[in-house]
Amino acid sequence: MITLSVIKADIGGYVGHSSSHPLLIEKGHECMEKAKRDKLLVDFHVTNCGDDLQLIMTHERGEEDEAIHKLAWDTFLECTKVAKELKLHGAGQDLLSDAFSGNVKGMGPGVAEMEFEERGSEPIIIFMADKTSSGAWNFPLYKIFADPFNTIGLVIAENMHGGFSFEIHDVKEHKKINLNAPEEIYDMLLFMGAPGRYAVKAVYHRGSGEIASVSSTQRLSMMAGRYVGKDDPVCIVRSQGEFPAVGEVLEPFTNPILVEGWMRGSHHGPFMPVAVRESNPTRFDGPPRVIAAGFQLSGGKLVGPRDMFDDPSFDKARRIAGEIADYMRSHGPFEPHRLPLEEMEYTTMPQVIKKLEKRFTDLE
Ligand code: F6R
Ligand code: MG
Ligand code: MG
Repeated sequence: MITLSVIKADIGGYVGHSSSHPLLIEKGHECMEKAKRDKLLVDFHVTNCGDDLQLIMTHERGEEDEAIHKLAWDTFLECTKVAKELKLHGAGQDLLSDAFSGNVKGMGPGVAEMEFEERGSEPIIIFMADKTSSGAWNFPLYKIFADPFNTIGLVIAENMHGGFSFEIHDVKEHKKINLNAPEEIYDMLLFMGAPGRYAVKAVYHRGSGEIASVSSTQRLSMMAGRYVGKDDPVCIVRSQGEFPAVGEVLEPFTNPILVEGWMRGSHHGPFMPVAVRESNPTRFDGPPRVIAAGFQLSGGKLVGPRDMFDDPSFDKARRIAGEIADYMRSHGPFEPHRLPLEEMEYTTMPQVIKKLEKRFTDLE
C-alpha cells in the first residue's frame, strides 16, 4: 500500500498575498529531500499555488501518520523562519498553534490523504486552489463523478457504470453522510449545492470500494474562530481505468464557476484554471484560481508533474473568467459580489452598528 499525502499552508506571501518566494520553496524542498534520504518518504514534490506552499508526499505509513504530519509541520516552521527573515507578508499565518500534538489537522494546514494499492498504471491529478474555500471542489467533483454530460465513461464504460459514492461533510455541525450517485443525486445536490456548509470529503468507486478522490475540508476561520486566511483547498483525484479519464477529470474546469474567496475572503469570483507559473493572484487579490499537477505513480515515485492546465484548450475558460471578473467587480461593495453578511471574513458591521445605534429608530 502506498499513501499520498498533500499538506499545505500559507506561511508567508510574496508580494502581499500574491505568490510564494523561491527561497521558501527551496527550503521546503531541502526538508523533504532530507526526509527522503532518511527513508521516511518514498518521494515528494514541492510547489506553490499563489501564497500557499504545497507539500506532495508519498510514503508507506498510512493516513494521519504522526511522523509524516510532524515532518510537514516542521517543514512549515523552517519555511516560516525564512519568511520571517525576508519579512514576507503574513509569515507563519496558517500555523495556528505553537506546539505540534500528533496531527496537523485543526492546527491550520490543509490536508488531503489517501492510501491505496498502486495499480499497473496510476495516473493522479492534484488540484490546488488559492483565494477560495474548501467547498470549491463540490461542483467539479459532481461533474467528474456523477454527471454523464461531463463524464461519458459513466454511460459507456462498463467499469464505471455502477456509479460513485460521495462522502459529504457538514463543516459547521461536524457531521458526515455518504450518498450514492446516480440514485441519490437529487438529495446529494441539495447539500453539495451549498458549498459554504457542505463539502465533499471523499469519493469512492461503488463497485470496488476503491478511493477515487479526497479533498481538504478544513475551514481555517472555524478553526481559529477569527479570520486568518482562506482555506485554499487541495483535492486529489485518481484517474483512468475504473476512474474517470484525465480529460473527464479536467473538463469541469472549462467552466469558471463562481466561488467564494477573492479579496479579503469576502467576495464571489470566477474559479480560473491556470498553469502553475500563472498562479499568482494579483487582480483584486485574485480572481480565485486552480492549478492541476498530474503524476504517474511508479512504486510510489511521483513521475511528473505535468502542468495540466498549461494548455491552450483552457485559454477560453481563462478569458471568460476575466470577463466574469470584470462583471462581478462592477458591483463594487454590493452583493452578490460581496458575500452575504454572515459569510464575510472581514467586517466592520459590529463597530458601525454600535456607532450608529442611537440613530436607528423604530419603523412606524
Ligand atoms: C484573501 C487574501 C487577501 C487579504 C488582503 C488583506 O484570501 O489573502 O485578499 O485578505 O490582501 O490582507 P492583510 O489583512 O494581510 O493586509
Ligand atoms: Mg496569504
Ligand atoms: Mg492562499
